[in-house]
Amino acid sequence: MKLLILNGVNLNLTGKREKGVYGEESLESINRELEEYARKRGHGVDFFQSNVEGELCTRIQEAEGKYDGIVLNAGAYTHYSVALRDAIAAVSVPVVEVHMSNVHAREEFRRNSVLTPVCRGEILGFGKKSYILAMESFFL
Ligand code: DQA
Repeated sequence: MKLLILNGVNLNLTGKREKGVYGEESLESINRELEEYARKRGHGVDFFQSNVEGELCTRIQEAEGKYDGIVLNAGAYTHYSVALRDAIAAVSVPVVEVHMSNVHAREEFRRNSVLTPVCRGEILGFGKKSYILAMESFFL
């Protein structure tokens, strides 16, 4: 199985920003662990991060026929990007939405995701393990 791990706006700062919320580990280091985890189970993963909404939409469009699934942490775009929602709805590749933090225990505006209705499912609140659990949802 081949998965795309897609990270959106500000996720490149993981390990540097709001450490109490997102931890001290960099996205690069988390990605290495995810790659190793998938490899040990005989699966492949590609990674892409962007702060640009349209670039994320393009990657989702291009995933058609190329990946078996997408693990998506869209960052703040989660809460208002109709463009990302439409891109997810436009492809047949299943998308699992991920958040490192428990967005329901934070500010009110984080409780709503415009993406969840068009995603296969959502995993949140487990730090970097949220990505692993999302990958497992495809592997199982
Ligand atoms: C996040 C939660 C979002 O509300 C926030 O804007 C992020 C990260 C998470 O992983 O917990 O940038 O998606």
